[in-house]
Amino acid sequence: MLLFLVAVTLLRIDSGRCGLPFYNGFYYDHVMNDKGNGNEEIHFNGVKLVVETPGDPVFTYRGANVTLSCHYHYDPQPDKPRMIRIKWSKLQEDSTTDKDVLVAAGPKHRDFGDFQGRVHLQQDSPRDVSLVIHDLRLDDRGKYRCEVIDGLEDESGIVDLELRGVVFPYQSPHGRYMLNFHEAKKVCEEQDAAIASFEQLFKSWEEGLDWCNAGWLADGTVQYPITFPRKPCGGKGLAPGIRSYGERHKNLHRFDVFCFSSDLKGEVYYLAHPWRFTLEDAKQACQDDKAEIAKVGQLYAAWQIHRLDRCDAGWLADGSVRYPIVWPRPKCGPPEPGVRSFGFPKHGRFGVYCYKMN
Ligand SMILES: *[C@@H]1O[C@H](CO)[C@@H](O)[C@H](O)[C@H]1NC(C)=O
Repeated sequence: MLLFLVAVTLLRIDSGRCGLPFYNGFYYDHVMNDKGNGNEEIHFNGVKLVVETPGDPVFTYRGANVTLSCHYHYDPQPDKPRMIRIKWSKLQEDSTTDKDVLVAAGPKHRDFGDFQGRVHLQQDSPRDVSLVIHDLRLDDRGKYRCEVIDGLEDESGIVDLELRGVVFPYQSPHGRYMLNFHEAKKVCEEQDAAIASFEQLFKSWEEGLDWCNAGWLADGTVQYPITFPRKPCGGKGLAPGIRSYGERHKNLHRFDVFCFSSDLKGEVYYLAHPWRFTLEDAKQACQDDKAEIAKVGQLYAAWQIHRLDRCDAGWLADGSVRYPIVWPRPKCGPPEPGVRSFGFPKHGRFGVYCYKMN
């Protein structure tokens, strides 16, 4: 009877998909199917496949190497080793389909897209299928699914990878509320940053971020963080929190954006120089110093992570003028630490912040 049921299930899956059985994103080739005869399938019926991943998020920095832990076992342990397939994929915030990261069957591995050449399975022990990612990028953060597939059995676990870093609001040089979602993503990338996730904004709000202009987030919603409730920012009576405009039209609606930046591979510094520059001269001065004019995301990361503190206004690559203050003091802006901004001056001469790769 059991044998009959298994046979029917296999037939069902077999039909309707170009003759190849299809399951969870894999076409099983006949080699795989021939390995398991009917008896093994029946034996497998009483066996549970268990996949274990850590419950807490993994926190690290941009540029680091990270291991996303994933182990599996059978309960009870089968007598013979079984042929399995591993599939690691990344859940997409703005889409229902996952992004392939790596698939493995026996010694064969294949990696995909931006992950090519940066990922491998750890395999320190027989049932270890942890994923190692090298040289983490800002957009690597997110949820990863570790999927173990044994014939028709399929179990998976999720690992949450988060980066430590800093969230900063960004406004277009052309003024307030000028960016649609796609432009918002692009301006963050131009500042060596990525559009922030809700989790990142929430964490920054917990750390005291207060900003009264609404900005796009990676999930396509528009929100802003308020620590000190006041009339123009949702009302005085409303508790502190993240105010949300909800999901907005990605092409038609325009706001500011929240960007996220993490650790740097280089160093940001204020260029010591006897005179002040126009923007063009400032760019050249950094190049003459074998560096580049710094981007806004780099200045924020230097301020937050490397505690850069300098009470001198300097040009940045986007044409804005800013300076980073860790220890507030008289004549250096408001009493809270922060990156002060002079906006995008049309004229005037200032210092410059440069960025040099290590
Ligand atoms: C990451 O791993 C590569 C290759 O093993 C190594 O060369 C590099 O130094 C590592 N990076 C960090 C930040 O540990």
